[in-house]
Amino acid sequence: MRFLVVGGGAREHSIALALHRAGSELLVASSNANPGLERIAQRSVRVDPTDAPRVVAFAKDARAEAAVIGPEAPLAAGVADALRAAGVPTVGPDRAAAQIETSKLFCRELLQRHGVAGQPHFVAPATPDEVDRAVAGFPGPFVVKPSGLTAGKGVRVQGSDFTEVKEGADYAKSILAQGQRVLIEEKLEGEEFSQMAFVTDSGVYPMPAVQDFKRALEGDHGRNTGGMGSYSQRDHLLPFLSAADRDLAVGLIEKTASVLRAEGLPYRGILYGGFMLTANGPRLVEFNARLGDPEGINALALYEPGDFAALLYGVATGSVDPNLVRFRLRATVVKYIVPPGYGDKPTTGGLVAVDTGAIEAAGVHLVYGSVDAAGPGVVRLSSSRGLALVGEASAIYEAGSRVEAALAFVKGEYYLRHDIGTKADLSRRVEHMRKLLAPNAKPSPIPLSVASPEAPPSSAGSPDQVIG
Ligand code: AMP
Ligand code: GLY
Repeated sequence: MRFLVVGGGAREHSIALALHRAGSELLVASSNANPGLERIAQRSVRVDPTDAPRVVAFAKDARAEAAVIGPEAPLAAGVADALRAAGVPTVGPDRAAAQIETSKLFCRELLQRHGVAGQPHFVAPATPDEVDRAVAGFPGPFVVKPSGLTAGKGVRVQGSDFTEVKEGADYAKSILAQGQRVLIEEKLEGEEFSQMAFVTDSGVYPMPAVQDFKRALEGDHGRNTGGMGSYSQRDHLLPFLSAADRDLAVGLIEKTASVLRAEGLPYRGILYGGFMLTANGPRLVEFNARLGDPEGINALALYEPGDFAALLYGVATGSVDPNLVRFRLRATVVKYIVPPGYGDKPTTGGLVAVDTGAIEAAGVHLVYGSVDAAGPGVVRLSSSRGLALVGEASAIYEAGSRVEAALAFVKGEYYLRHDIGTKADLSRRVEHMRKLLAPNAKPSPIPLSVASPEAPPSSAGSPDQVIG
């Protein structure tokens, strides 16, 4: 099958790799020449992926049989609508349904209108006076976020990004002054996780749960970023996430898919719930209308040797064979190599040398993001996330150690969060959740896992380590 991949980052490279493994011919429409995509693409074109007429023209000229849209910007620009109108079945919602991500106000109001539980308290002030009234009457710490797309970087959280109520109010007013809507939301306390699912007419098909590391610096300090790395656990839960809480999150995705349909917005694509596991169960932080980056890289690394093209084609055409939705029972860790200063003032143009053969020999996969080829085995970093290293093992911390070992074969000036997927970090998260659930409980020694009470399926081999 000839599949068009729209977008040129690491998420799109991992989609393309999964399609390539299924024997698909690949067409790529992206603004950058991603060295990983270039290597496996049959044809690629340098085009702004939000330029619907040009993307469609390329799809027609290259005789694409189906398309998958990676990033949110083309969804917001109506590229899925245009491809469908041109007769190309597409994974990715139409512009109207993509509002579930592109307008946080649309999302919150839709779910509120249909009584879908699991949302934080929120207000959407439309004037500076309403901002003052909203923050004055707000029952506790709050979060300020523009309603529109900000690549995960526009949210300011009281206690980490600002302290005083007035600072939050001033930020909200500055968003209004730019002509944008703003949301003021209850600050949710807990551990975040990403639950993604394929969504189409025939149903909702969940992927393994993943935890993303959004903050730029180790220990979850620094600015919010698009995501510095992520991990997934062998049983597709997380060290702090039980099957019951995962199922509640999946239920919320199912309800959302059905209310979108009820409002005349059928959805064929990926729906990704960003959740906070709180003391009162999972709460929705936001929805995204696409695979997470990096979380999609974890999920697709686990896709069983099977026909990923048939799965995506099923999503695009409305009918998925559930037997195609299979993920291996392994833990994964993704760590991003980014330019120094990423999240604040990134230094662009730095060269990084990668010994791909040695990295692969160490059992780690290299996924290319926003980099340019700069000679054999050398890439040039841009201001965005450059290379994703993906480790896989039985336990999360082992997968993390594999990535760390592979760094011996990466040379250059870069930054990477070494704490992702370490035992210390996993324990910290489990302990955080335990404290929230029982504020007066004393920390107890290992076993720390509050996860999955049930044993992993017997086909999965020996039981996991306690953590990860
Ligand atoms: P978003 O752009 O909605 O994904 O938000 C980016 C990040 O801001 C999230 O991943 C959270 O870490 C944080 N955030 C957003 N909304 C809330 C909330 N209501 N409570 C706590 N943290 C939040
Ligand atoms: N990793 C966060 C996102 O893809 O939005």
